Amino acid sequence: MIQNNASLLDNLEKDCLSCQRCDLSRGRHNVVFGVGAPDAEVLFIGEGPGEQEDLKGEPFVGKAGILLDKMLRAVDLDRNKNIYIANIVKCRPPQNRDPLPEEQELCIAWLRRQFALIRPKIIVCLGRIAAARIIKPDIRIKKEHGKIFRKGGVIMMPILHPAALLRNPADKPAAFEDFLRLQQLIEEHCEHTYDKLNSE
Ligand code: URA
Repeated sequence: MIQNNASLLDNLEKDCLSCQRCDLSRGRHNVVFGVGAPDAEVLFIGEGPGEQEDLKGEPFVGKAGILLDKMLRAVDLDRNKNIYIANIVKCRPPQNRDPLPEEQELCIAWLRRQFALIRPKIIVCLGRIAAARIIKPDIRIKKEHGKIFRKGGVIMMPILHPAALLRNPADKPAAFEDFLRLQQLIEEHCEHTYDKLNSE
């Protein structure tokens, strides 16, 4: 039987839930695999779960996530309908420290497999850690957020991390500009993202 994307992603999530590839697995309450439409044309990638995400098993559900959802809604994007959200590492680093390069290295295989199933047209990297891992190691996020990169046929855009926007609210208008640019990119390159918002 040919399995569809949703069930292949479900199977991948089941495997991921028992992952013990690195020490982050020892301190976790939950693996934070990802959330969203299995056939999303736009994939958002964050850094790693924080406290709330670890407790709930879902990415971006704390204060930064509330802000992210608001900005998404402003450009007709919705984690439950037309995008997918995942992180570089699936388990919470202690005290919310940056994930170590070796933790990223061990975990990134899960994200690669998510990417291979979802096959997004656009990747949005939330913050420096994700952008450095996915777009280019020497990214300067304050300078280069909102810039469009192309890699292997996929359009990529780094944006400011919503937690950084909570610390520096003066950057919110610039971040909003990036979301408007993203909306334009979606209109130009995606086929069903905005149709899905209005479905059922
Ligand atoms: N920050 C991230 O980068 N990812 C989350 O899931 C939550 C906060």
